[in-house]
Amino acid sequence: MDKIMIEGGRPLQGRVRISGAKNAALPIIAACILCGGEHRLQGVPRLKDIRTIQEIMSGMGSTFGTDGAELIVDTTGLRASEAPYELVRTMRASILLLGPLLARLGRAKISLPGGCAIGARPVNLHLKALAAMGAELHLDHGYIHARVQRLRGAPIFFDTPTVTGTENIMMAAVLAQGRTVLKNAAREPEIGDLASMLRSMGAQIEGDGSDTIVIEGVPELSPADHRVIPDRIEAGTFMIAAAMTGGDVHIEGMRPDHLSAVIQKLRSVGAELETESDGMHVRGPASLQAADIRTMPFPGFPTDLQAQFMALMTVARGSSIIKETIFENRFIHVSELKRMGADIEINGNQALVRGRDTLLAAPVMATDLRASASLILAGLVAHGGTTEVRRIYHLDRGYEALETKFHSLGARIWREKA
Ligand code: EPZ
Repeated sequence: MDKIMIEGGRPLQGRVRISGAKNAALPIIAACILCGGEHRLQGVPRLKDIRTIQEIMSGMGSTFGTDGAELIVDTTGLRASEAPYELVRTMRASILLLGPLLARLGRAKISLPGGCAIGARPVNLHLKALAAMGAELHLDHGYIHARVQRLRGAPIFFDTPTVTGTENIMMAAVLAQGRTVLKNAAREPEIGDLASMLRSMGAQIEGDGSDTIVIEGVPELSPADHRVIPDRIEAGTFMIAAAMTGGDVHIEGMRPDHLSAVIQKLRSVGAELETESDGMHVRGPASLQAADIRTMPFPGFPTDLQAQFMALMTVARGSSIIKETIFENRFIHVSELKRMGADIEINGNQALVRGRDTLLAAPVMATDLRASASLILAGLVAHGGTTEVRRIYHLDRGYEALETKFHSLGARIWREKA
């Protein structure tokens, strides 16, 4: 297992280009199941999770190739419809295969994704919605067994906005018989990116980005070319890093309109942010002011940037209250940050962070994808030696060459075999 080493204390300076969004690429690759032929995708990030969904879909008879920077996906040969436990347990987003497999083949056998470090991560809303569309589903030996003659459009109401739930139902509905009206739908930019890919394939979808999405089923679709949107969580991670290190960074290839809540928060802690033609220029203040956050579905503050913002608050002036409303256990990074000298108290789904002048370098352990990023950020400002972040396979799931990008901004950071 690799580890990342960081000698902190250097302001980040320079330019960094953001990769394509993991959480857009995953449903878009799954959507290629909906029809055979060559789909050409640009901007797909080189990540462990992307390799995992390719491995699962290849096992079903899909083929993947590259042409320069393009990923070519062809599901003409799709025959099988089983996503095995040993792969699904490493990537819960495999549930995104359920909707398109039912739409294309009328059957699917997907290992029930277990929970993960940040929470139970149930998929009951996915299953309830697919049943409302006529699918017969039952759980057996840890697998979801699903079958249907042809899905039919239905009115669906999600008890809570679910990102992959919305994506799954969109993909199920585009080939269903009749109209599907999805209410209390998630509004994340990745939903809109999937919708634009599906429209390129000939789907009839309206309302993506709002809480009501209307889909008219069509008899068949055709292969499409699509460029994946930039990763707003990676962009937000670099914005926070620039603010935290008192840096001066041009973040290129990002969409400011995907990060309004984060931009507003970073301005309130004293960072200077200006929109540029291809992204944002972020300058960190001499000293950071504390600010409170509460994670919410889009367009609120994203839960995937909560751990990174908490790292920022550990070295701000004053106290900050961080409320995590999406997942029930997304404070695992707190104990590792406290080992670096952070002053944090957890009370249920709230954390009180009292800012300190600095953090101290220490060996720490990553526990989930975004917690790993918060430990890297803490290492960038820690004094008194080298911070070692272990178990960074978590990081490699969702960030493309993160340490290389930070190194190009002047950080003293490198990867070693643990
Ligand atoms: C997506 O997960 C993202 N993953 C997550 O990013 C992100 O944190 C999350 O959305 C919230 O924005 C991908 O897009 C691949 P949800 P998802 O369904 O879809 C409850 C990362 O770091 N819920 O929107 O699994 C659930 O428990 C990952 O890249 C049900 O109760 O999240 C949670 O409390 C981590 N029943 C809330 O809804 C269901 O059937 C939101 O979860 C589904 C969800």
